[in-house]
Amino acid sequence: MNQQDLVLTLAKLPLGEIRYFNSIGSTNDEAMKWATKGAKDLSLVVANEQTAGRGRLDRPWFSPPSTALAFSLILRPHADETPHLSRTVGLTALALTDAFGKLGLAPQIKWPNDILLNGRKVAGVLIELTWFEDDVDGVVIGVGINVAKGAVPSTDILRFPAISLEHLLGQAPDRIALLHDILASFIALRPHMHTDSFMSSWEKSLAYYGRGVRVEMGGDQVVVGKVTGLGPDGSLKVLDDNGKTVTVRFGDVRLRLFA
Ligand code: ATP
Ligand code: BTN
Repeated sequence: MNQQDLVLTLAKLPLGEIRYFNSIGSTNDEAMKWATKGAKDLSLVVANEQTAGRGRLDRPWFSPPSTALAFSLILRPHADETPHLSRTVGLTALALTDAFGKLGLAPQIKWPNDILLNGRKVAGVLIELTWFEDDVDGVVIGVGINVAKGAVPSTDILRFPAISLEHLLGQAPDRIALLHDILASFIALRPHMHTDSFMSSWEKSLAYYGRGVRVEMGGDQVVVGKVTGLGPDGSLKVLDDNGKTVTVRFGDVRLRLFA
């Protein structure tokens, strides 16, 4: 992977600027700095390796050299997108499921921010915001994908089983071609983010839909029940054992299948 190949392969997409790093701490850190310094809409930071990749709540995200696809996309939300910004994680997850689907795979979205293949985590999404006074003026969308087997961490640091595209395809797909397909799907879906059909596509891709789950929220709060869908803001709806629908919002949430 290098800057020239990236620019060539992505040339037909209406992106902002592209910054490529052979090695970097975290593409999200770089994109957050850039977003506060005037990055254009759809600017992109891509790295061959991250040495301090982050997941939610500053948990470590492992992306060793040449095996993972790690990138951050900067959005400058349009005024009509602002009311739906909480759907950005779904937009990104659907772009990933589309691109993995094109490879012949059957991905599912583990709410809120993980993509599963065969029940194992293949990719994660980390969304961060930049603010100008009281308004969001930038959205940084970080995506990490286990492309080759070497991207998958050892089980002792995993909170959930992981897998790579190579494990399932027999060979690792080209990272730049994959990035192209993800970005193309993202750009095509973005104008539909406010629609009901967008929400139903997101719901249809959910892992554990209709199944029993256990949701651990920050502190000691636990909900056990059946996943029944998504709220308009992308929150998860769970029907608990007392017949009450509980709305689970993004945050410190741990979702597990509960047999
Ligand atoms: P939970 O597993 O509790 O549902 P999560 O999967 O959403 O939460 P995150 O904080 O989003 O957890 O992701 C960070 C976690 O992902 C790390 O704590 C680590 O266990 C795991 N992880 C780190 N690198 C990778 C990787 N390359 N592939 C899969 N999982 C990883
Ligand atoms: C998660 O599952 O918690 C999300 C993982 C997100 C990892 C990506 S890799 C590119 C970008 N840079 C980071 O430091 N994190 C995101």
